[in-house]
Amino acid sequence: MEEFVSHSKRNGQSVGLVPTMGALHDGHLSLVERAVGENDITVVSLFVNPTQFNNPTDLATYPRDEESDLRLLSGAGATVAFAPGVEDIYPGGVENRARKEFDLGTVAEVMEGKFRPGHFQGVAEVVSRLLRLVRPDRAYFGEKDFQQIAVIRRMTETEGIDVDIIACPIRRADDGLALSSRNALLTPEQRAIAPEIHRALAGSVDYARSHSVRATHDTVVEQIEGVPGLRVEYFEIVDGRTLLPVEEWEESPWIVGCITVYCGDIRLIDNIAYKK
Ligand code: PAJ
Repeated sequence: MEEFVSHSKRNGQSVGLVPTMGALHDGHLSLVERAVGENDITVVSLFVNPTQFNNPTDLATYPRDEESDLRLLSGAGATVAFAPGVEDIYPGGVENRARKEFDLGTVAEVMEGKFRPGHFQGVAEVVSRLLRLVRPDRAYFGEKDFQQIAVIRRMTETEGIDVDIIACPIRRADDGLALSSRNALLTPEQRAIAPEIHRALAGSVDYARSHSVRATHDTVVEQIEGVPGLRVEYFEIVDGRTLLPVEEWEESPWIVGCITVYCGDIRLIDNIAYKK
């Protein structure tokens, strides 16, 4: 991988990187297509990163389908699929790797940071290793993982990694459910109720025009929890830059509602912009 990239760079080719954990769907492919359009070389990494899973069952059940991934990637025009082994990314193995504490600031402490301790340290760890290996000009991330983008921006700044972080819009199924590798784990009954998450969020944008932040928050939670089988872990209406909660719509020019919902045992995340 390093030699290939060095060679491409010597030829003056620009490099885009799309980091993924595989089990690719149209959401991932929208990032790949954007990267293909903006770079001479597009590298897509497929690596289920063990250090970002705080729940061992989640890691064990994470869907994997390399054959289908490779087929989708060649269809989307990616130049290279980079599917390293754990030892390639963490020489000596996960247990013996050189550990490092990243300074990720408050953007990593709120929301997902509270409910998935250590998750963002693991994300920072793997993304910093991938960026140093592939040395892309641009790296592409989806807004579905809204907080992850803020964390990665912060990581590249504090680590002094020179790369453009490109944020790409959420791809949804026709019924509004945000595409996610974890959707494959839903039973047909769960898959049928999961779109209520986006329905509630999308409906609340209009509601927010004539209601307070607090009332908007409560109506979303009520609507989702009104569906048997759905349980809201958190819903926070935050400043899009700092990710800190807002109390008034006038407080910030960029306001996003970030939600995590359990559909049975499956943890789904989504978000919606109220102001941008
Ligand atoms: P993964 O969940 O595989 O997602 C890879 C990228 O695809 C992320 O940037 C994610 O935000 C984006 N993505 C997923 N679903 C999307 C959708 N419906 N619309 C648009 N983009 C979507 O996120 C990770 O992997 C990992 O944490 C990773 C960054 C690869 C580090 O291990």
